[in-house]
Parts: sequence; C-alpha cells; structure tokens
Amino acid sequence: MEEEKVSQLNQESTIQDEVVVDIKGLKKAFGSKEVLKNINLTLKKGENLIVLGRSGQGKSVTIQCIVGLLTPDEGTVKVFGEDVPQLNNQQLKELRTRIGFLFQSGALYDSMTVKENLEFALTRVLKIKDQSELDQRVQEMLEGIGLPEAVDKMPSDLSGGMRKRVGLARTLIVKPEIMLYDEPTTGLDPITSREISELILEMQKKYKTSSIIITHDMECARITADRVVVMKDGEYIAEGTFEELQHSEDEFVKSFFLDTI
Ligand SMILES: Nc1ncnc2c1ncn2[C@@H]1O[C@H](COP(=O)(O)OP(=O)(O)OP(=O)(O)O)[C@@H](O)[C@H]1O
Ligand SMILES: [Mg+2]
Repeated sequence: MEEEKVSQLNQESTIQDEVVVDIKGLKKAFGSKEVLKNINLTLKKGENLIVLGRSGQGKSVTIQCIVGLLTPDEGTVKVFGEDVPQLNNQQLKELRTRIGFLFQSGALYDSMTVKENLEFALTRVLKIKDQSELDQRVQEMLEGIGLPEAVDKMPSDLSGGMRKRVGLARTLIVKPEIMLYDEPTTGLDPITSREISELILEMQKKYKTSSIIITHDMECARITADRVVVMKDGEYIAEGTFEELQHSEDEFVKSFFLDTI
C-alpha cells in the first residue's frame, strides 16, 4: 500500500465514544517484584492504541490481565463493561471469542496446513460447519493478507514474515471486536513490517476493530496509532497522538521517538 492509501485510510476515523476496555488502578506483582504499580487505561471502540515501553516493564502482563490469563492484585479490569476477574470460566470463554490475541510468538499449528489453521478458528469459535462457507471465508482472508497461494502450504514451508501474516489471519478471520497485538512486527524485515502495520490499519477501518498494539517498532506506531501511551516503572507516564509525543518535553518519552523526526 502506498503512502497515499495510508493517509487516505487515516482520514476516515472509526473512533466512537463507547469504552471497550477500562482499567483502573491495576496492580500486579510476582513475588516481591511489583510489575504493574498503577495502570489506568481506556480503549475506545474503533481506536488503535499504541503501548510503548522498555522490555520487562509489564506490557504483556497488562494484556494478559485483559483476557483473564492473569489475575490483578488490585484494581479493576473491565472489558465490554464486564469485570474480567469476576467472570466464571464459561463467561471468560465467551468473552474471549470477542477478543483476538496475537501472541508475541504468533504460533501456528505446525501439523496443519494454512487452510486448516484458518478453518480451525472458524469451526471452533464461530461454529461454522458448512464447507463452502469455510472455503469462501478462508479464501477471502488469505486474499486480504496477500497470500492466496499459501492456502495448502504447511507452516514450515513459509518464511517468518508469511507465518506472522497467517497467524494474524487466523486471529482476524473470526472478526474479533478487540484485537490485542503483542509486538506484531518484531523479527520482520522493514518491508514486511510495514505490510503488517498496514494490515492492522485496514482491519481497523474495515471491521471497526478496537486494538491495543504493543510495539517497539516506531514505524508501526506511526502508521497505526490514533493514540500512544508510554509506560515507565509500572505506570503510564504520557499519553497523546504520535505527533504530540514525538515533540514531548520529557526526555524519556522523547527517547522512543529519536529516529522518527
Ligand atoms: N507469569 C509470570 N510469573 C512470574 N513473573 C512474570 C510472569 N509474567 C511476567 N513476569 C515478569 O513480569 C515482568 C514484566 O513482563 P512482561 O512480559 O509484561 O514485559 P514486557 O513489557 O512485555 O517486555 P518485552 O518488551 O520484553 O516483551 C518481567 O520481569 C517478567 O519476568
Ligand atoms: Mg512483552
């Protein structure tokens, strides 16, 4: 996608006032190690929110609290208005069908073809059984990520970048209302990274997906961000648009943007 298309997509805002993730006073420690000290975070419907922070700061821990994989020590974590730590297993399962989670590793099932990986998500989450509908959805999604020719390949036959794209396709094919991207472009070359970033933007515009995007890739942040937050010592210390934070007075905040100006 060319610059023009990116800026064209960016002009059409999908953001609504409805809050889909609302975190207040979140604390989480592991043993004596206080990782999250006081996290306050809201994600609006249709918004792309970028989370910046050094390694080991608790960015991944935060999103694990959102999907109920970790339980907070203190504070509230609400998703679609529901208090996640209070949900029982069945409710949690239902909530997770509305949330897509792209893990840092972006793992695929190695013994299944690309098509089977994608179908698995459709049959398990959306309970679709009709083969022609499955075929059509898989085909559409693979075209969406620019890999229609990969349909019958095994994950081991794909490059790292292709695997990442298929991993993303498998998550997106069930059209989650919230997407949690944990370093979606890490380990990819700049061109593939850019393609993934543009795909994230396209998904937002097409399906009005609300996303939290954890990244160290400032080009990805620049392309996808509606809003950026910066994490330091277990708290968010800055918030604004990419351009606002790019010109921040704060040295720590500025340090993330050094190569972007
Ligand atoms: N389940 C766990 N049990 C114990 N400690 C954990 C657990 N999960 C995370 N931690 C610790 O919490 C801290 C924050 O981890 P986290 O993975 O959230 O960092 P991060 O900000 O995502 O870093 P990176 O940018 O490297 O991915 C780390 O010190 C990690 O060792
Ligand atoms: Mg992490």
